Amino acid sequence: MREVLVTGGGGFIGKKVAQELLSRGIQVRLFDLVKSNIKGVNCDYVGSILDPYKLSHVMKGCSHVIHLAAALGVNRTETNRLECLLINIQGTINVLETCVKERVEKIIFASSSEVYGEQPVQPIIEEALLNPKSNYAASKIVGEEFMKAYLETYKMKYNIVRFFNVYGEDQRDEFVVPRFVKNIVNDKHPDIYGEGDQIRCFCYVEDAARGIVDVLSSPAESEIFNIGNDSEPISMKDLASKIIKISNKNLKPQFVSYDDSDRDSHRDIIQRIPSVEKAKKELGYKPKVSLEEGLKKMIGFYEVKNNC
Ligand SMILES: NC(=O)c1ccc[n+]([C@@H]2O[C@H](COP(=O)([O-])OP(=O)(O)OC[C@H]3O[C@@H](n4cnc5c(N)ncnc54)[C@H](O)[C@@H]3O)[C@@H](O)[C@H]2O)c1
Repeated sequence: MREVLVTGGGGFIGKKVAQELLSRGIQVRLFDLVKSNIKGVNCDYVGSILDPYKLSHVMKGCSHVIHLAAALGVNRTETNRLECLLINIQGTINVLETCVKERVEKIIFASSSEVYGEQPVQPIIEEALLNPKSNYAASKIVGEEFMKAYLETYKMKYNIVRFFNVYGEDQRDEFVVPRFVKNIVNDKHPDIYGEGDQIRCFCYVEDAARGIVDVLSSPAESEIFNIGNDSEPISMKDLASKIIKISNKNLKPQFVSYDDSDRDSHRDIIQRIPSVEKAKKELGYKPKVSLEEGLKKMIGFYEVKNNC
C-alpha cells in the first residue's frame, strides 16, 4: 500500500481512521471541507468531493482510498434532501471516476446500517434484504450500487463497510449518545423520542476505525462487511439511565413525542443489532471498547469541555 487518501478525513470517524492508519505505519492523505489537524499525515487538503479537479490533484499517487465524505444526520439529510443526494451520490461518482483516472488499486466505501431499515431477523447479516426508510439510506444504497457498477465497467476493486451506530468524543451533538451525555453532564434531563424502546448496539469510534482499516488491509474484494459492536444491545431509555447512573446524577429521562422532535415515527427503526460474524471470521475484527468504558470516556470529554 503506497498511500491512502481518506475523504471526509476531517470528520468524526475520518480523524480516527487517519490515526489508525498512521499507527499501522501506513502513509495518509486527508481530504475534507475542513482541516483535521492530525499530526503525521502527509497532506491535509481542504476541498469538496463535488470538485473533480481538486479530487484528481489530491488523489494523484495514492494506491488506496477510504471514502467517508458524506452528508449525514437526520436534520441535514431530510431537510436538504437534494444536497444529500448530490454529495452522497454525485460526490461518490466523482470519487470513483477519479479513482479510475488516477489508477487507484482499491476503494473502501463507508455505507450505513440505515440501508437495512427495519428487519424481521436480528442480528442483521450482510445478506439481509435492504429496506431503506430515508433519503440518506437510499443515497447510501446508490453509492453501493455504483461500487458494483465500476467493478463491472473498470475492474475497480472495492469493499463496502456498513457502520452500525458509531459514537465517541467529537461526534456532532445531534446524534443520540453525545446528545444524552451533553445534557446529563450539564444537569439537564436527556430527551427521549417516543417511548424509548428503540434498540441499538453502539460501537466506539476507535473500534469502528480499526474495523474499516482491517477491511482495507485484507485481501477481500467486492465484499460487504458490517462493522459495529454486537455485544450490548440497549434501548434508548436504558441508555439514558445508564449514562445518568455512570455520571452519578439525580436526573430522569424526559419523554418527547415524535411530533415535538426532528424525528418521524414512520422512519424510526425499532431494532437494529448487527451481526459482525463475517468481519470477525474473515478479518479477525474484534470490538474492544465496552459501552460503559466508551460512555465514561465521553462523559470525561464533556466534563473537560465544560471546564475550559
Ligand atoms: N457516525 C455513524 O454512526 C455512522 C454510521 C453509519 C455510516 N456512517 C458513515 O461514515 C462516514 C463518516 O461519518 P462521520 O460520522 O465521521 O460523519 P462526519 O459528518 O463527522 O464526517 C463526514 C465528513 O465528510 C465531510 N464532507 C461532507 N461533504 C463533503 C464534501 N462535499 N466534500 C468533502 N468532504 C465533505 C464533512 O465535512 C465531514 O467532515 C459517512 O460516510 C457516514 O455516512 C457513519
